[in-house]
Amino acid sequence: MKVFVTGGAGYIGSTVVSELIKRGDEAIVFDNLYQGHREAVHPEATFIEGDLADKQLVEDVLSQHQPDGIMHFASHTLVGESMKKPFLYLRDNVVNGLNLMESAVELGIKKFILSSTANLFGLPKEMPIDQNAPVHPGSPYGESKYILERFLHWMDQIYGMRYAALRYFNACGAVSATHGEDHDPETHLIPIVLQVALGQREKVFIYGDDYDSPDGTCVRDYVHILDLAQAHLLALDALSEGSRTYNLGNGTGFSVKEVIETAREVTGHPIPAEASPRRPGDPGVLVAGSEKIRKELGWQPQYSSLKAIIESAWEWHKANPEGFAVQGSMFKVQS
Ligand code: UFG
Repeated sequence: MKVFVTGGAGYIGSTVVSELIKRGDEAIVFDNLYQGHREAVHPEATFIEGDLADKQLVEDVLSQHQPDGIMHFASHTLVGESMKKPFLYLRDNVVNGLNLMESAVELGIKKFILSSTANLFGLPKEMPIDQNAPVHPGSPYGESKYILERFLHWMDQIYGMRYAALRYFNACGAVSATHGEDHDPETHLIPIVLQVALGQREKVFIYGDDYDSPDGTCVRDYVHILDLAQAHLLALDALSEGSRTYNLGNGTGFSVKEVIETAREVTGHPIPAEASPRRPGDPGVLVAGSEKIRKELGWQPQYSSLKAIIESAWEWHKANPEGFAVQGSMFKVQS
């Protein structure tokens, strides 16, 4: 299959691209390198540096390459940032996604996979979050993804476009010591904790210790990117049997304090931590009910232990304390 991958140089997108290529598919990566890294793109992928806001360019690339399907990763993805810059999320994420869908329709591309998010459940009452729990987006970010899910519903109804909306919980871990997470600025808990262990930060701030959770800190469902990648391949293969929406998580929650404690164990570093105010938009507890994808597609996450997840991330961070910038290409490609 030939797949057009927006955001294919990003953390999750580049992992999925590598897994597609590994199993013999073709990938056309389209990325503006705003967050992504050219070095993270598999050398057998076709790479196009471009912005989704350039609808004409997107259409030209799609009509030149005629992909069988689209995987849409490129977007703004930070819950906290979306509470400060709502227009960035509600405009860019929505308009870029909509333009991409329109181009897909015009060119007869009938398979679409959307990176969606657990944040669209807001502050759910029941844990784990059932696939069919009511949707009340917890931030403009979650709202932007929900709007795209609804657009896809209509693309399916009207044009027969088959889609999968994959609602990620907390993506984490590294593929290997040469392929991992590298955001600038970094805002995610696990890499921040590991940056403290590397001596790049003095301490980690715990955003809120008065949540309604066992130790008062936020609980999240951490899911390894290789497990996420497998879910994308399974979903892509199943699209011919119809559209679908899945939660993607391990079904187990870990608190901020548990993450820090496990990282202390893995790294042997004391990792100082300090309680600080809550971050706007953060729900207290988010744990996935992912039975639907397990049952329908046989998805089985391989990394259900937090320790294994943090160990894989630590391998990458230790080997590449400055990320891709210094490491260069893991695949030795010149861009
Ligand atoms: N946290 C801290 N200190 C930090 C960083 C994070 O206490 O320095 C806390 C946050 O408050 C949160 C938890 O650690 O409770 C995890 O935070 P992350 O920033 O790592 O991840 P989020 O849960 O905010 O968001 C991630 C993705 C979103 C996705 C969401 C789904 O970034 O795109 O998971 O659960 F929507």
